[in-house]
Amino acid sequence: MRVGIIGAGQLGQMLGFAARDLDIECRFLDPSPSPPAGVCGEIIQRPFDDAAALDELARTCDVITYEFENVPVAALQRILQDVPVYPPIDALRQAQDRLYEKQLFTALGIPLPGHHAIGAFEDCAVAADKLGLPMVVKTRRLGYDGKGQFVVRKPADIEKAWKTVGGQALIAEQWVTFDMEISAIGVRNAAGDIRTYPLTRNVHRDGILRTSQAPLDTPDLEQKASGYMRQLLEHLEYVGVLALELFVRGDELLANEFAPRVHNSGHWTIEGSATSQFENHLRAVTGLPLGSTRSLGHAGMVNLIGEIPNAARELAATHLHDYGKTPREGRKLGHITVVSETSAGRDELVDSVSATVN
Ligand SMILES: Nc1ncnc2c1ncn2[C@@H]1O[C@H](COP(=O)(O)OP(=O)(O)OP(=O)(O)O)[C@@H](O)[C@H]1O
Ligand SMILES: [Mg+2]
Repeated sequence: MRVGIIGAGQLGQMLGFAARDLDIECRFLDPSPSPPAGVCGEIIQRPFDDAAALDELARTCDVITYEFENVPVAALQRILQDVPVYPPIDALRQAQDRLYEKQLFTALGIPLPGHHAIGAFEDCAVAADKLGLPMVVKTRRLGYDGKGQFVVRKPADIEKAWKTVGGQALIAEQWVTFDMEISAIGVRNAAGDIRTYPLTRNVHRDGILRTSQAPLDTPDLEQKASGYMRQLLEHLEYVGVLALELFVRGDELLANEFAPRVHNSGHWTIEGSATSQFENHLRAVTGLPLGSTRSLGHAGMVNLIGEIPNAARELAATHLHDYGKTPREGRKLGHITVVSETSAGRDELVDSVSATVN
């Protein structure tokens, strides 16, 4: 079995590592010269929408998946005649545009923050009136790690927001004063089997994920979130891993966005779950039975951003993952996972690892 993976970043690398144990061969498409997944299989070094490269991938692989969310949908649609592409292209199309994503949540009855689409400068004032301030203005497409966002705190900020992110399709969102951020990660295969991982608590700073902790001891939230996850997976006739980011406010869950791929907030599943998100994604897209999503203790993950300090390598009883990327400010270079028998022990470890590496 050979899986073609579009994107060869750290997510591709971790899929590649999981593939070895399943006796799956991976072949990647990525334009960068020495991407992290280069250690896991052959790289076709061409742009993501290169027709000849996609055709070659389709011809030589049994199934195509992606770890990079901004693959042009039209390019994938073309190869769909030759090879299955999972997750379904329609899920990707909706995830690529924050407005479509919100329309999907609304259609499925999944609660979400108030929002207003912005096409022209005048729409900003209308949005501010409707949503109140603060509000956050985001590009509808191509955002990641909090990029392409501007928080409007007072009316005078509107002009600055427009200067910073304007000139493209935007969406304004109500600023949510959340108690915490969580993500739900689920997986579905073509036979319709579904597994969900326990909820993960996520902490972001400057729009970038810093730490994740799982499981949470919140059965009510768990039940609500897995209901939303199931609705999304079934509605989209989804195959693969899907991550849903949510804000928790009191006993309310508000959907932020979803990612049709393996997700940074699920990295803890490599050591902290009976089956990692990477293995389950491969199982789903290749038609293998899904693995158990049972937790193995209490797991925490700390992202290594901008640099991997020597101290990170000296820590005992932790799992360091170095993606092999060139250091650059704000870049995710690796992560550290800890697993403990108790949630208190886990939280202590996450705090001490964070203090050591940041
Ligand atoms: N409406 C909001 N209210 C409060 N905080 C928000 C809101 N939107 C975004 N944030 C904060 O900014 C973070 C990044 O926002 P969002 O998830 O929309 O962006 P992103 O660029 O797609 O990020 P990523 O790629 O890391 O998921 C959120 O996780 C949250 O901490
Ligand atoms: Mg996000």
